[in-house]
Amino acid sequence: MRGLGFAALSLHVLLCLVNGVSSRRTSSYVRSEFPSTDMPLDSEWFATPKGYNAPQQVHITQGDYDGKAVIISWVTPSEPAPSQVFYSKEENRYDQKAEGTMTNYTFYDYKSGYIHHCLVDGLQYNTKYYYKIGTGDSAREFWFQTPPAIDIDASYTFGIIGDLGQTFNSLSTLQHYLKSGGESVLFVGDLSYADRYQHNDGIRWDSWGRFVERSTAYQPWIWNSGNHEIEYRPDLGETSTFKPYLHRYSTPYLASKSSSPMWYAVRRASAHIIVLSSYSPFVKYTPQWMWLKGELKRVDREKTPWLIVLMHAPMYNSNDAHFMEGESMRAAFEKWFVKYKVDLVFAGHVHAYERSYRISNINYNVTSGNRYPVPDKSAPVYITVGDGGNQEGLAWRFSDPQPDYSAFREASYGHSTLQLINRTHAVYQWNRNDDGKHVPTDNVVFHNQYWASNTRRRRLKKKHLRYESLEGLMSML
Ligand SMILES: [Fe+2]
Repeated sequence: MRGLGFAALSLHVLLCLVNGVSSRRTSSYVRSEFPSTDMPLDSEWFATPKGYNAPQQVHITQGDYDGKAVIISWVTPSEPAPSQVFYSKEENRYDQKAEGTMTNYTFYDYKSGYIHHCLVDGLQYNTKYYYKIGTGDSAREFWFQTPPAIDIDASYTFGIIGDLGQTFNSLSTLQHYLKSGGESVLFVGDLSYADRYQHNDGIRWDSWGRFVERSTAYQPWIWNSGNHEIEYRPDLGETSTFKPYLHRYSTPYLASKSSSPMWYAVRRASAHIIVLSSYSPFVKYTPQWMWLKGELKRVDREKTPWLIVLMHAPMYNSNDAHFMEGESMRAAFEKWFVKYKVDLVFAGHVHAYERSYRISNINYNVTSGNRYPVPDKSAPVYITVGDGGNQEGLAWRFSDPQPDYSAFREASYGHSTLQLINRTHAVYQWNRNDDGKHVPTDNVVFHNQYWASNTRRRRLKKKHLRYESLEGLMSML
C-alpha cells in the first residue's frame, strides 16, 4: 500500500517544500455509499463467543502515563465472574496474574452484563504479551504488543478513527484500519450510537463492543467521548451524564493527575497525547481548564516531540454540519495550542474529512474585530476525521467558497494513519473507503513544530538531518 501512495506522497512533499503554496481543495469525489443503516443484531460481525458466560467485548487501553501498563476490559454477559487476567510473554504459559474490578449498570429498562476492568502493569517495552480471560471452555486468549520506550526518535504508527457506529460503512472503515499497520488508535469520540435507539438501547453498546473487539482486544484504543456518549435522559429517569461510556471504557486519568476520566493525557513512543472532553466544562477555572494548563507545562518535547490533542467537536470546520460548535473551546484553548506549538489537533463530530493549514485566530476578541484566521507557523494543523461511518450518514454540504484556512476536504468515509518517523518528520495519510476498497487520498508529511524549526534543526546531529531531504525521507518509507 505504501508503494501505491508514493506518487501522491511525493507531490505533497514537494508542496511542503515550496513556501507559500496554497492548494486548497474540495474534493469532487462522490462515493456510492453503503446504506447508512446499522448492521442487524444477528450479523456475523456481532457474533457472541462460544461458551457459557464467555468474555466478550474485549478491549484494551493504555493503563499508565508512559505505556508500561494496559487496562484490559471485558463483559461477562450472564453472571458475575472473576476479574482475572492471566498473562505471559510466552504463548500458552500465562504464569502471571492480575486482579481487576467488576461493575454493572442499568439504563432505564436495560441491564448491562458484568463489566470487568483489570490493570496489567509493570510491562516491558516493545514486547508481545499473551493474555487469557475467562475460565474452562469459555476462556479466550488474545495478545498485544507494548510500545517502544518513551524516546525522542521512537517511531510509531497511530490510527485515527471517529464517529464509528456500527453500519456496513463502519465495518469497511474498521476492516481497512486493520490492514493499515496502525499500532494503536486515537479515537475521537462517538462510539456506538446506541443513543439513536429507543430508550438508548444498551444492546447496541454490547453489539458495538463485539464489533470492534477484532481490533480493540489486540491493541490499545485511546478513548475520547463525543455527544453520543452524553446520554442525558431525564425523561427516562437517567439524569447522570456519560453513564454507559464511563462504566464500559476506562481511561488512565489518575496517571496524568486528572480528576476525571473524561480528560487525561498519555505518552506513547515519541508522542504526548492530550484528550479533551468537548462536553465537560472547560472555561476558565473549571477542573478541565486547570488540568490542561498544568499538563501543557509537563510536556517535554525533548522526550516526546510530538504533541497531539484529541477532542470531539472541531475548532475549525467549514462544513454546514456542526458549524461553529467547537468555537467556545477554540476561544478557551487556541492560544495555548499556539503557545505550546501543538503539532496536530484531531477531532470528529462532522461526518466528513477536513484538514486545515497552520492557522490561528488568537488575535480575535470582541473588541478588536480581527476576525479572520491568519497563517501561523506556531499553530497546529486541525484535522476532522468524523467519517467512521455511523448511521447518521455523511455531511456533504461544505461552505462555499472554501475558506482560506481549509486545505483539503471531502465527504467520504474513512480513517487516518499517522506514522511518526523521528523527532522531525511524520507521514500522515487519510484513507477513503471506496466501495470496499481502501484509497489513500490525503497524504502529507508533517514537520515537527518543536524540532523542525530552524534554530533547533541546527542542533540536530547529522543522522537526523538526512531525513530533511526528500530522498532521505523516502528511504524511511
Ligand atoms: Fe458527534
